[in-house]
Amino acid sequence: MYSLLYKKQVLLKNKISTTRVYLFRIRHLTPFHLKKTSFISEAVKNMKSVGALAPSSKYLVSKMLKQIDFSKKITILELGPGTGVVTKQILSKITLDSNLVCLELNEQFCAKLEGFKDKNLQVIQGSAEDVATLFKNKSFDYVVSGLPLAIFKKECVNEILEGCVASLKEEGKYIQFQYSLASRKTLQRYFSKVDVSLAAVNLPPAVVYNCSL
Ligand SMILES: C[S@@+](CC[C@H](N)C(=O)[O-])C[C@H]1O[C@@H](n2cnc3c(N)ncnc32)[C@H](O)[C@@H]1O
Repeated sequence: MYSLLYKKQVLLKNKISTTRVYLFRIRHLTPFHLKKTSFISEAVKNMKSVGALAPSSKYLVSKMLKQIDFSKKITILELGPGTGVVTKQILSKITLDSNLVCLELNEQFCAKLEGFKDKNLQVIQGSAEDVATLFKNKSFDYVVSGLPLAIFKKECVNEILEGCVASLKEEGKYIQFQYSLASRKTLQRYFSKVDVSLAAVNLPPAVVYNCSL
């Protein structure tokens, strides 16, 4: 907002019409606005599964991905990618021979992810409850999850975590963000080491769980 006002002042000083200022505003704000709206509209329609009103911040995404060694050939499973804020970052960091599999329940979000058209990305529309049946044992180096575990039924969380444990390699890691510490005890039942860190620059502030088998 401040930078827009500043630009407006500069343009006016140079005797450039205000029409151009408004064109500047429309051109530069519309894509951002649409991106938010599509997440929000799906969130409002499917509050019980989306569990958030906005995609994760860049800060939260980089906090989650700091746990991953991108210098090696790796296979990652992303659960609940939504509009793909984490997905895009993973795709920009992995080696050419690495792979990312996205498992997303929401049809609209899957269509958006398909649009990334990346040969290292596979998008599957389905439920994280089916991880155990969808994938072979021990196939992933990392599971990165944006699933709103805290609002899921206990049995559903157990099924998801059992599947993730079975699909992770011995040295694999499960990385999960949440808006509270409510899932800590549950995660400790499935993983021998659960580190928690705060990602304050996010709306709402979040915590990142970094879990090892
Ligand atoms: C809180 S949003 C996170 C979106 C994105 N990862 C981010 O960080 O902005 C949760 C996502 O999980 C998806 N989801 C909810 N339940 C799911 C399930 N059982 N299986 C797969 N995806 C699910 C929702 O559709 C939504 O895209």
